[in-house]
Amino acid sequence: MNLVSRPRRLRLNETIRTMVRENEVNAQDFIYPIFVTYGEGVVEPISSMPGVSRYSIDNLHLVLDELTELRIPAVILFGIPETKDEVGSGAYAEDGIVQQAVRYIKANYPKLVVITDVCLCEYTSHGHCGIIENGYVQNDPTVELLAKTAVSHARAGADMVAPSDMMDGRVGAIREALDEAGFPLVSIISYAAKFASGFYGPFREAAGSTPGFGDRKSYQMDPANGNEAMRENWEDINEGADMLIVKPALAFGDIMWRTKTETQMPVIAYNVSGEYSMIKAAAMNDWLDEKRVVIEALRGMKRAGADMIITYHAIDAAKWLAEGE
Ligand code: PBG
Repeated sequence: MNLVSRPRRLRLNETIRTMVRENEVNAQDFIYPIFVTYGEGVVEPISSMPGVSRYSIDNLHLVLDELTELRIPAVILFGIPETKDEVGSGAYAEDGIVQQAVRYIKANYPKLVVITDVCLCEYTSHGHCGIIENGYVQNDPTVELLAKTAVSHARAGADMVAPSDMMDGRVGAIREALDEAGFPLVSIISYAAKFASGFYGPFREAAGSTPGFGDRKSYQMDPANGNEAMRENWEDINEGADMLIVKPALAFGDIMWRTKTETQMPVIAYNVSGEYSMIKAAAMNDWLDEKRVVIEALRGMKRAGADMIITYHAIDAAKWLAEGE
């Protein structure tokens, strides 16, 4: 058979396949999520996320040393406070858990980029991302507290703040508050297209942030909507977002693609807890080849338009990538 086109020519061996590969994922693309908890000497495994633990500040070096060695450039911090209240005071306390962790990391690992998740849900007794009145999460009073939280993170030394609450107008309010407090160079990474997803289940165990009543559907987006995600993106860009997060990642490749092509902003895929746990569970049963599917999923996020990936797989994936295939 005389065929002009034989695409299989370029699939002949691994060297050729690597030469024509359109997308690659690297350790430099990763942002590693860390759960910081109160207490001392704590390394507490999270049962629904095998391989992921909560660390007290004195034990953070265990994971930070590994990240440095693997050249993973950034972390995103989530705090588990000792006490919670109605208004999430722990989120914006000057000596709150995240503020302390940021000070420790910036003092000991100055080159590591420290991003902080800005939200109230880990700090409120009801587990919602804002202040509740009449059973409804109040937007504007919550935004004030989020701005206060972001400034307290910046004061502790955070390089970037990442609001994940999905209140309206929070990016603008945070930008203004940061500028006023003397932090014009602290970036805002906005969880702009964040969906009300079932894939956050394991995170809520990890962070102890399951809503005590109801759900997050009155502030996070309906997973059925794409155009609305673009409106959210543009709103946050106009309010001063420096980068955009699409979250979750696996079922939202179209949103990533549209976010990249329509906005041309730096885009971050958040490969969330449930997506991690699904692969882990299948791998532990020998139903899937973990290394293979993780790299495939991460490359898929790059192909869909992500420049960076927040992923719990970061440490394993960086090791696998260093080993080669
Ligand atoms: C806080 C926050 C959540 C996640 C990131 N920031 C939980 C939620 O919105 O319920 C989820 C991350 C994950 O599942 O890995 N609002």
